[in-house]
Amino acid sequence: MSTMNTLKPAVDKEVGASRDTVVPAHEERPESAVIEEAKTVGKPFSDDPKFKLRNVEVFYGQDRAIKNISLDIARNEVIAFIGPSGCGKSTFLRCLNRMNDSIDICRVRGSLLLDDQNIYDSKRDVVELRARVGMVFQKPNPFPKSIYDNVAYGPRIHGLANRKSDLDDIVENSLRKAGLWDEAKDRLDATATGMSGGQQQRLCIARAIAISPEVILMDEPCSALDPIATAKVEELIAEMSESYTIVIVTHSMQQAARVSHRTAYFHLGHLVEVNETNKVFTAPEHELTESYITGRFG
Ligand SMILES: Nc1ncnc2c1ncn2[C@@H]1O[C@H](COP(=O)(O)OP(=O)(O)O)[C@@H](O)[C@H]1O
Ligand SMILES: [Mg+2]
Repeated sequence: MSTMNTLKPAVDKEVGASRDTVVPAHEERPESAVIEEAKTVGKPFSDDPKFKLRNVEVFYGQDRAIKNISLDIARNEVIAFIGPSGCGKSTFLRCLNRMNDSIDICRVRGSLLLDDQNIYDSKRDVVELRARVGMVFQKPNPFPKSIYDNVAYGPRIHGLANRKSDLDDIVENSLRKAGLWDEAKDRLDATATGMSGGQQQRLCIARAIAISPEVILMDEPCSALDPIATAKVEELIAEMSESYTIVIVTHSMQQAARVSHRTAYFHLGHLVEVNETNKVFTAPEHELTESYITGRFG
């Protein structure tokens, strides 16, 4: 794998610490806000971190998409990543289970710890990592298999069930937790791709849950869903937060406000502000956060 693994703080003088000047697009006066690199306002750290992320930088070739971000993600919290398109939310999210490994030109630097262990350790088993840190994507992506086989896929690969009855139990429990059992129980052998979009997304959540992950990463999981299906997934996120740590990227500020405990505001690869969600949306500390949540750009 071509991922750089650096434990020392990754402030690279050659690349240059940046001070990005931002002029919000619809400002009446050409006021500019300055983002200072590695200065995140609010409460980016936690007493009980699941992830401890320090001085994280991500490069695509020469382009630095993530600029020296430090953040803790607390155990069993739901944290929302928000910010304008292209600000690095997905890139940063993908660092958490090394999904960026599959992008050839992508390099990750800094210290990224999951339960105090280096995610990017060259000896780390990435398959095991992704079993612990599952992912749900923007577009529901069920396998072209039956509903049952979709959910059973992970447990089979990871050898989590020795007997058919154990596997049946895992499938049922996962579908129940994903709020899909009643709709799916009479057609477990039907092809998953025949379900509605909302059902497919809940199936993908069931598939992620089936291997008992500790963390679930969600990258705009509702953006392809209608409002009713979205409400169901949001309900599910609230229930799941009792058992899992959840990181959700969303372009919907209403959704961030509804589902998350903390919200992180990204801008041009910087992490500008992290605070309790309520505070971010009622009394943001940084003027860029305020500009974004009041709709002056985005
Ligand atoms: N696979 C990639 N190759 C090259 N550049 C990329 C790739 N993915 C994202 N980028 C760039 O990284 C920056 C952050 O993108 P991304 O993480 O997708 O932002 P967001 O999810 O906030 O919209 C953007 O400038 C984007 O063009
Ligand atoms: Mg994205």
